[in-house]
Amino acid sequence: GHLEEMSLPLFFGWFLLSSVQDKVRCTSMDFVKTLDTLEAFKKHFIDCEFTGKAEKEVDLEQYFKPTEILHCTTKFCNYGKKDGAKEYAVKDLYGSVFELSLSALFVTPRTVGARVSLTEEQLLLWPADAEKEVEASASLPLGSRAHVSLGCAEGVEPVQTGLDLLEILAVQQGGQSGELVEEMELGSLTYYGEGRWLLSLREPICVPACFSSFYG
Ligand code: A2P
Repeated sequence: GHLEEMSLPLFFGWFLLSSVQDKVRCTSMDFVKTLDTLEAFKKHFIDCEFTGKAEKEVDLEQYFKPTEILHCTTKFCNYGKKDGAKEYAVKDLYGSVFELSLSALFVTPRTVGARVSLTEEQLLLWPADAEKEVEASASLPLGSRAHVSLGCAEGVEPVQTGLDLLEILAVQQGGQSGELVEEMELGSLTYYGEGRWLLSLREPICVPACFSSFYG
């Protein structure tokens, strides 16, 4: 009967342990606050198309609505509706704790996120088609999309965070090095146009995260 069938979750992913969630939130909030004080940032942010219709002064702390459960999605299953959801069989590692390495923080007019640099072992859990869903990023290495969504602007879905990261990496790969804006305490800040900023962390932030799923 249907009660014995395993039902598929909304998504599988690594969930940051609650003990480190606050630390990551604080670090990203500090980063956003610092960005908000940079003249170059304010100028580009207000000029870009997405916020162009908004008021001239943007308080970033209000602008981005924080994500409730910090996690790095591996496979988005949409309760089985997504291609490959059934085949994503990872039962043996379910419930294991991994150490995720957050290697960069990024902000766009739509989202704030942290880039996750996956290890070889972690890449075994990464879906082969995650990058291929987006045309511009089809040739990026496996795992390029891995991220933790930290906040989204009003009306923006969290799926956008990974797409914004892929866009930034596609610009990098296309040979445009971006404009080095500032050496900050945490690392170097680069501007990639269209309101997209990436802070490459000098010291990655390592966080424990449990491989599990979310049903909603
Ligand atoms: P992200 O991984 O960037 O946080 P929602 O609440 O919109 O249903 O999303 C639930 C989670 O699944 C979020 O973590 C979200 O983005 C991720 N997600 C939503 N849609 C997709 C998709 N099409 N591909 C990959 N991940 C998705």
